[in-house]
Amino acid sequence: MAPSARHRTPPTVTLSGSALADSPLLTDGSLDAVAVPVAPGREGDEGLAAGSGTAQAAARYGIDLAELAERSGLTGAAGESSVVQLPRPVGSAVALPWTDLPPRIVLVGVGQGSDTDLRRAGAALARASRGWRAVATTLGDDDHAASSDVARSTRALVEGYLLAAYAQPSGAHKDAVKAAAELVLLGRDGGRAGAAVVAARTAASATWLVRDLANTPSGVKNPAWVADQARRLATRAGVSVEVLGPRELAAQGFGGILAVGSGSASTPRLVVARYTPPQPAAHHVVVVGKGITYDTGGLSIKPRESMVPMKTDMAGAAVALATVLGAAHSGSVHRVTAVLPLAENQVGAASYRPDDVVRVYGGTTVEVQNTDAEGRMVLADALAYADAVLDPDVLIDVATLTGAATLGLGRGHAALYGTDDDLVRALTAAGQATGELAWPMPLSAEYQDSLRSDVADVRQTARDKHMGGGSVFAALFLQRFVGTRRWAHLDVAGTARATADAHEVTAGATGYGARLLLQYLADLS
Ligand code: BES
Ligand code: MN
Ligand code: ZN
Repeated sequence: MAPSARHRTPPTVTLSGSALADSPLLTDGSLDAVAVPVAPGREGDEGLAAGSGTAQAAARYGIDLAELAERSGLTGAAGESSVVQLPRPVGSAVALPWTDLPPRIVLVGVGQGSDTDLRRAGAALARASRGWRAVATTLGDDDHAASSDVARSTRALVEGYLLAAYAQPSGAHKDAVKAAAELVLLGRDGGRAGAAVVAARTAASATWLVRDLANTPSGVKNPAWVADQARRLATRAGVSVEVLGPRELAAQGFGGILAVGSGSASTPRLVVARYTPPQPAAHHVVVVGKGITYDTGGLSIKPRESMVPMKTDMAGAAVALATVLGAAHSGSVHRVTAVLPLAENQVGAASYRPDDVVRVYGGTTVEVQNTDAEGRMVLADALAYADAVLDPDVLIDVATLTGAATLGLGRGHAALYGTDDDLVRALTAAGQATGELAWPMPLSAEYQDSLRSDVADVRQTARDKHMGGGSVFAALFLQRFVGTRRWAHLDVAGTARATADAHEVTAGATGYGARLLLQYLADLS
């Protein structure tokens, strides 16, 4: 795949100070549609409540939009939409009031107007407007909304729009995006609304990057390819980048990455990308991301069907990269370092084996039980390296680590572990703010005994196969390599991938984690 095909331009978002009631944009022929909100009636009320701009649109078009919304079966729930196609008259005998106006009105449900609601409304508008050139809207400028802060609601709306507009780079509509190419925000100019649009674009671009990298087939994205993408993107963003190849990895003792990569014809890499703010940094946050470019399971090979989605097993590494790039783009006050251990877990003549003892970075030995538990092997190297060399104030890893995380929590929440309550609270809050939810899980000390080995410093998996708690044991294993750092671990096996579009989440790689971590950085003081 040509690298250029991977970087489609997200829709343009422009601000227009003019209000819907008198905006000249509506009659200059540039718009395909006008979108206005509908909300559920206030408590006790029957029917729908009109949102900001709906009355003006009704007046300009000469159409009872509230009645039309009811007749279309709308309830005002966030994420609903209905496109009203306006007829053009035949001949000149009839003059319709909307002759000079955009030929469609989109009614969009905004629910109670919360950030989540407005992200959903933005996503619904994106899907409704696919294929159009431009749509103008009062959405997000809603005086009916629970959050009357226009900057917040504008950001949520635009973020939802841009996230839902994402289209996978392969397939028939290679370069199309799934939304109108331009979104015009009415009644808002410059200032705080402008900053909100920039913030939404930074967040959505980070997610788009993760989705693009994780959706790329593994025939293309071997470890060297991902390292090249990281080098190219980091250099462009003014982020310094260092790539270690197999020789350097061996010289420095990265035995976990090398063991996992040993079965593949594509050799492993370790990428370290560093953003340093111009002013003295407040904190140094290191983000480590699991970067298995394909996970066959190795000699402990996966069942046929479980292997299919494993091109996304490097989503954590993509999140780490997108976070450091996003921090640079938004001029974060924190130092941010991304560490990407990249390897392909393959079946080969040189594959590592169950019952091998592997010496990881820093000298800890690991008794291998299952070559399909490869994520923790590469993370052991990367976390031990981060602890020993990078001196982080906060160390966070993101990994599609265990199917067990999905068993417990489903696909709506990542499993979140941490050695520091404030850090866990801050990440949970960032998840709630962005809609990338995470649920705190216990680092049960009583379970640690089960990772004791007779032949190495630690066992790779729990001694008793019937204990359950696979995600907890993986986290406890990782904890062995973080020293005394403030550390958190996000097991994103369930959230990194989706089988269908749902609001701002798109089918395939979801990009989960990049917006959460950028929000965490923005809130960190
Ligand atoms: N990459 C998988 C985890 C995974 C499973 C991610 C399903 C997304 C969807 C990981 O490397 C793995 O194979 N984990 C094993 C661990 C086990 C061998 C201890 C698992 O979950 O079965
Ligand atoms: Mn695996
Ligand atoms: Zn894996």
